Amino acid sequence: MSNDAEAAVEVIQSRGASDPIEVAFVLGTGLGNMAEAIVNPVAIPYSELPGFPKLSISGHDGRLVLGKMEDTNVAVMQGRSHYYENGDPRAMNGPLETLAMLGAHTVILTASAGSVKHDFFPGGLMLVTDHVNFNGLNPLIGVASDGGFVSLTEAYDPRLNKRLKRAVIRAGVTLHEGVYMWFAGPSFETPAEIKMARALGADAVGMSIVPEVIIARRLGVRVAAVTLLTNFGAGFQGGNPSHSQTRDAAAQGAIGLRRLLRAFLRTKEEAWGAQQTT
Ligand code: HPA
Repeated sequence: MSNDAEAAVEVIQSRGASDPIEVAFVLGTGLGNMAEAIVNPVAIPYSELPGFPKLSISGHDGRLVLGKMEDTNVAVMQGRSHYYENGDPRAMNGPLETLAMLGAHTVILTASAGSVKHDFFPGGLMLVTDHVNFNGLNPLIGVASDGGFVSLTEAYDPRLNKRLKRAVIRAGVTLHEGVYMWFAGPSFETPAEIKMARALGADAVGMSIVPEVIIARRLGVRVAAVTLLTNFGAGFQGGNPSHSQTRDAAAQGAIGLRRLLRAFLRTKEEAWGAQQTT
């Protein structure tokens, strides 16, 4: 683990958040208000945490909030760093290492995304079942020894996905499932790129998640990712996304996402391969 992560853990523990974390959430643009549901929260601005991002994008709060939600010790990152902010695919390495050191065995990533599937309408939620790393960038490039050869065969943990799908009923939301394609951003895609994304098997496109999944898998942390579809991709069904549109749509859709994630915390892990009961 890096010195930054060790130093960040020290800061966090010195603020009284010393219980081991079970589940961590990374909240994307406009999705940060989920942390309001935390009981007895300890909130620490990223600026006080070594290795955490300096956020420059509107819609991101930039705080780590720790505490209890649905009887579970959680850590919530309100805002993330993106590759397009600094050209570094490892930008989320420090925070994810910190979460792993705090005990988080599970990370749930959230982000807004553009739909490239006709019946995945803006406002809907999509569980990411797999990704296409269209950038070809990898946060593990340069990792010494064999540690970089991380398997991504079940990168989006099937057991967590099963729990999220069970949570849907309680939360009263619809959850699509599909493949997420990572673009560097920050400009949105062209209509030709969106056509390509669809042809190559994508259901949604976005500017985050993928490097975080790769880093988390290297750390042995289980991952699931839920995207909020804020718009249709450029040129697709009339899609012409803008930052203000995606931010406003995220704020509206955040309510359903928050319900889903709280319902997820109430689901119990089933024995691997056991019959689904709810
Ligand atoms: N493209 C890339 N990222 C996004 C989009 C999009 O259309 N919408 C929200 N995030």
